[in-house]
Amino acid sequence: MSRVVYVNGRWRPHRDATVHVEDRGYQFADGVYEVCEVRGGRLVDERRHTERLLRSLAALRIPLPLPIPALSVVLHEAVRRNRLTDGILYLQVTRGVARRDHGFPPAGTRPSLVVSARRIDPVQTERTAQAGIAVITLPETRWARVDIKSISLLPNVLAKQAAREQGAREAWFVDRDGYVTEGASSNAWIVTGAGAVVTRPLGPDILPGITREVVKDALRAETLTLDERPFTVAEALGAKEAFVTAASQIVMPVVRIDGQPIGTGIPGPVAAALRRIFHHHAEFS
Ligand code: PDD
Repeated sequence: MSRVVYVNGRWRPHRDATVHVEDRGYQFADGVYEVCEVRGGRLVDERRHTERLLRSLAALRIPLPLPIPALSVVLHEAVRRNRLTDGILYLQVTRGVARRDHGFPPAGTRPSLVVSARRIDPVQTERTAQAGIAVITLPETRWARVDIKSISLLPNVLAKQAAREQGAREAWFVDRDGYVTEGASSNAWIVTGAGAVVTRPLGPDILPGITREVVKDALRAETLTLDERPFTVAEALGAKEAFVTAASQIVMPVVRIDGQPIGTGIPGPVAAALRRIFHHHAEFS
């Protein structure tokens, strides 16, 4: 089965799925994206991902390329045409193709829309979750509006690479006051000695993760204590558990931070439980 990608109204073979060199995404990282989990051939939390997309587009004043119902058809078509059972959908909207000029292109320039699908091996992901992942920390170097899901990800790219080079899978950014903001591609959480689940509150300094929202629902249902407040690296190092959340990983236990074991050094019960029950609280379409 060959992969196909939606590019501005056409379904193209993956190897030919190209955009113009003067696409503003290519030249200015002038665009936004979404990553949505596909599980059992269905989209997970499409509604919330669509809402966040609209929010990101509005923040950057990029027009919506298709009406929402048509966009939903494209997303489901991407799953169907790629015969995707488990994996992710990647959706990107940029301000379109125009002569290079920093200011916005002429009114009427059509935004570009790309939707691709990729299989993720659930067995492999589960194996990773059983073992837990290592995280490094590094100074926050991103811009002041990372709540917008922009494709401008250079600090995230460098952070992730630094993590890889140190044998870790994720990097946590730390703000000037020593508090963890979030991961290079995930939200950051800890579980305190008293059993409270802690994550940074929403604001311009973290992405409002969809997985984060669903985990909050799960915590409420399980009557676990949620404490939305910033936490320091020192507190994380002394925590009982740590984990990250993202659409591509759901709830992923963290067992080492900067080389030091967290809790018992193996995935903890809270992260494991949240991972197990997550999809009971998610919406499928
Ligand atoms: N990343 N924070 C950042 C910086 C992210 O890039 C992501 C997601 C999240 C978690 O958001 P959500 O739960 O909605 O996936 C938080 C995606 C998966 C990515 O870039 O691949």
